[in-house]
Amino acid sequence: MRPETLAIRTQTERTGEKEHSTPLFLTSSFVYDSAEDMAAAFEDDSLDVNIYSRFSNPSVDEFVKKVCLMEGAEDGIATATGMAAVFSSFMTFVSAGDHIVSASAVFGSTHAILTKYLPKWGVEYSYFDMNKPETIEGLIKKNTKLLYVETPSNPGLDIIDLKYVADICKKHNILFIVDNCFATPAVQQPIQFGADLVLHSATKFMDGQGRVLGGVVVGKKDLIKQMYLFIRNTGPSMSPFNAWVLSKSLETLFVRMDKHAANALHIAQKLEGHTALSWVKYPFLQSHPHLHIAQKQMSNGGGILTFELKSGLEGGRKFLNNLKWLSMTNNLGDSRTIASHPASTTHSKLTEEERQAVGITPGLIRLSVGLEHPDDIIEEILDALK
Ligand SMILES: Cc1ncc(COP(=O)(O)O)c(C=O)c1O
Repeated sequence: MRPETLAIRTQTERTGEKEHSTPLFLTSSFVYDSAEDMAAAFEDDSLDVNIYSRFSNPSVDEFVKKVCLMEGAEDGIATATGMAAVFSSFMTFVSAGDHIVSASAVFGSTHAILTKYLPKWGVEYSYFDMNKPETIEGLIKKNTKLLYVETPSNPGLDIIDLKYVADICKKHNILFIVDNCFATPAVQQPIQFGADLVLHSATKFMDGQGRVLGGVVVGKKDLIKQMYLFIRNTGPSMSPFNAWVLSKSLETLFVRMDKHAANALHIAQKLEGHTALSWVKYPFLQSHPHLHIAQKQMSNGGGILTFELKSGLEGGRKFLNNLKWLSMTNNLGDSRTIASHPASTTHSKLTEEERQAVGITPGLIRLSVGLEHPDDIIEEILDALK
């Protein structure tokens, strides 16, 4: 079966109730038929027997299985949030004295883990510019354990050649981890290009309706086994309810991503050249500096676009205030179109220099394009710009 069908038809084994839609296993723990069975369940840290929902749960397993099939991964593990997926990936594989190479254009909280927390525990990092991949190799040291990228990046929409980076990682025997949150497996499958681990904030397009938080990491079986033990013991596990919501959402991920991308491309094309804007950025726009890489590894440009208001920081605030129905919130990947102004909100505490380093200019507006009629979205934006 093809991924579109697997995302719909993969389901927990039907119970005696003969339900059609997938059941929700809202239970903290599981029972045993005998003391011997209970003892055996604890014997080998195996995933085969459900023990306790911090370790495994059928609703969570169903969600993970679908993501594995869609990403072409051997195995996976779910977490409570996207940040738990990022943090658990780092903490499982690095020790004091290790070094991480990362793109500088990463999500704000990932930047905080790399720059504020990991150094406290003796793990150092080096940043590279996504637009200068030729500098990556020079940053790799003897103690480099892993390389981390987001592509497209949040919010800069920078694109990096996954195969190029994967080959460097293979040559130096370091782990290659990709945050695939913006593209989703419906648009890009980094494992196909050589990534070892792929992670997501499932909170975004995977949910698609802004309801629950979640994260997931998929990749090679032996790596996931190590992550499973870390997560089982430290506790950032996904709730069964959230997994049930997310698993149902994956059934529509392909059709939703097609529509998000069609709307986003249409709006990006309409906005390009507007007199109030310095530029418009979208991975599949002819003007994107890495269009050829995007077309090589993505099936469409995804649902996020950005533009820069000539009127800068004040203009960003004014634009948000001029919106009538378009949502002003910091989430993304929703059926509802969302506008955000990172410089005055999520990244307001950074210095101007730090904002520049992660690609956030004063008048940058990030648009998470929803599933409404594209003409309604464009009319709303043009009115606000006016
Ligand atoms: C690219 C990216 N990675 C990770 C995260 C963190 O995900 P969560 O909010 O689910 O913890 C986000 C959240 O916006 C994100 O955009």
